[in-house]
Order: sequence, then C-alpha cells, then structure tokens
Amino acid sequence: MSKIVVTGATGLLGRALVKILSQSNTVIGTGFSRAAPPIEQLDLHDQAAITAFLDTHRPNILVHAAAERKPDICENDHQATIALNVQAAEFLAQLCKDRDIQFVLVSTDYVFNGKSAPYIENAATSPVNFYGESKVQAEQAVLAVSPQHTVVRVPVLYGDVEYLAESAVTVIAEHVLNNPHSEHDHWAIRYPTHVEDIALTLKDLFVQPPEKQAGTFHISDNQSMTKYEMAVFIAKALNLDTQGLVALPEPSQTAARPYNCALKDTRLNAMGIAHHRDFATAIANVLSKHTL
Ligand SMILES: NC(=O)c1ccc[n+]([C@@H]2O[C@H](COP(=O)([O-])OP(=O)(O)OC[C@H]3O[C@@H](n4cnc5c(N)ncnc54)[C@H](OP(=O)(O)O)[C@@H]3O)[C@@H](O)[C@H]2O)c1
Repeated sequence: MSKIVVTGATGLLGRALVKILSQSNTVIGTGFSRAAPPIEQLDLHDQAAITAFLDTHRPNILVHAAAERKPDICENDHQATIALNVQAAEFLAQLCKDRDIQFVLVSTDYVFNGKSAPYIENAATSPVNFYGESKVQAEQAVLAVSPQHTVVRVPVLYGDVEYLAESAVTVIAEHVLNNPHSEHDHWAIRYPTHVEDIALTLKDLFVQPPEKQAGTFHISDNQSMTKYEMAVFIAKALNLDTQGLVALPEPSQTAARPYNCALKDTRLNAMGIAHHRDFATAIANVLSKHTL
C-alpha cells in the first residue's frame, strides 16, 4: 500500500484516480476552486503552500493531474498556461525528487502533430497548438529534474462527468440533444478513453518495481473515431435519430488540432497492463446518469 497524492482531484481524471487508487492505497486529493472535504484545497501557484503540504503528508507517489487542458483557453493566455502547466509541474517535480517521491505527470497525445500515427513513447514531439507546446515543455522539465520521474500521455477522456460539457466527448451529447441537425468534426481521428481505465492502468503500474515506472508511458483505448462518429454512438445511446447529424469534413475549432495522435502503449503492453472498454456501452452508461 502506498500513500498517493493526486492533484486535480476535483477534475474529471482526478476524481477517477482518487476513486480507483483508494481501493488499495491511502489517497489524498487536492483541488482548487471546487475543493471541499475530503479534497484539500491547494493552489499550485503557491510554492510555500505546496512545500508545506508535501512536508506534512510525505506521500510515496504524487500524480499531477491538475492542468489547463482546453486548447482554446491555452491559446489565449500563454502566460497563465505556462505558469500552471509548466512551472507548477516543474516545481512539484523538484520537490518530489528532493523528498524521494515518485512524480507522475499526466500529459497528452497533443504533444504530437498527428501526421504520422501511431506514436510510440519515444517518438519525436511536435505540437500544433499552445496547449500541446506547454505539455511538451512540462514533460521535458519534469524528466530533466529526474529521469526516474514518470510521464503518462493520454488521449481525449470521458467518464462520470459532473455536467455534460465537462468532457470533450460528453459535450457532444449536449449538442445532439439540443439540435437534431448538429454539426460534428468528421476529420480528426480520436481514441476516447474512459478515465477509470487510466486509473486502473496507473494502479497496476504503481506496483511495478520503481525502475520500471520511470520515463514516458502511453495509455489509450484503441477504438478510433471522429467526433461525428461519437455523435452517432451518442445519439443511438439516447434513442435519437442519427439521420440529421451533420459530418464536417474539415477541422472547425479555433486552436489548431492534430489529425491523428494514436498512442501505442508498447511499454505497458510489454508489462501485460491493459484496461479497455467498449465505447458504445460505456458512453451509454455515462449518459444514463445525466439524461434520464
Ligand atoms: N480531459 C481530457 O480530454 C484530457 C486529454 C488529454 C490529457 N488530459 C490531461 O489530463 C489531466 C487531467 O485533465 P482533466 O480533464 O481531469 O482536467 P479538468 O477536469 O479540467 O481538471 C483540472 C484540475 O486542475 C485543477 N486546477 C486548476 N487550476 C489549479 C490551481 N491553480 N491550483 C490547483 N489546482 C488547479 C482544477 O481544480 P478546481 O476545478 O478545483 O479549480 C481541477 O481539479 C490534465 O493534465 C490534462 O492536461 C486531459
């Protein structure tokens, strides 16, 4: 049993990490604006508070899931993005190294430009937007602090959302429900992955010998689909007509998005660690809690 701190524990992934990792570990979650007991409030811009927090709790592992992850927001405020996504990550990584705490940075498939998928863990990064750029900088900073630290890249996530617009996957349900002729990107290829599968994978990784946990890992489900195809699954799950849904053949968002960042999980695969689930079943289950 380890003592694990999870930052971003009020967020989509962090909530699942707390839930799953708590099954076999002592877990302390931190959040910011949404923090309420038992989640502790910790502003990741407050270096004195972070230091005091770590010295009080002395975890074995820190999973850093807090970040600004919306590409359009990152594009519009580079300074705030660097402060949270890069500087806070680097500071935490250094504190963890000094205290012999395994540091785990959650990163993204958007570190790649999407032109030559699939990507293995040591493929060259080349982000097409500032969010991806900030994550590349964070990865490099964290592994420069210590090559023993861990970077985990994940693709677009879904799971038990607090509201439909919380995830880029479930927000599609909002569009489908509001407009039978809603338009959806049919250009970019995505691999929607359930947050509990990320958490189950990390739970398995954390019981491996420390040297096997070092460096970069890819975690991804393997069902490929565009947002239009997700919309069709979602409409079917909601018993809505799919005929009127409109497929957009060109990218339609503000900040540039990569075409196809398929993440190959060669390292986890070699360890026999894999958690996947059927998208149609899982998204129907998620939506059943919001649309009844
Ligand atoms: N969601 C995706 O599709 C996706 C895809 C690829 C990679 N990722 C990565 O996965 C990780 C988790 O993403 P997510 O979707 O779970 O994010 P999220 O739901 O947007 O949650 C962000 C978290 O960061 C916390 N946070 C923000 N500013 C903070 C600050 N100043 N101090 C302390 N905490 C702060 C938030 O706390 P409050 O809400 O309490 O303020 C929240 O817990 C991120 O690193 C993201 O880049 C996500």
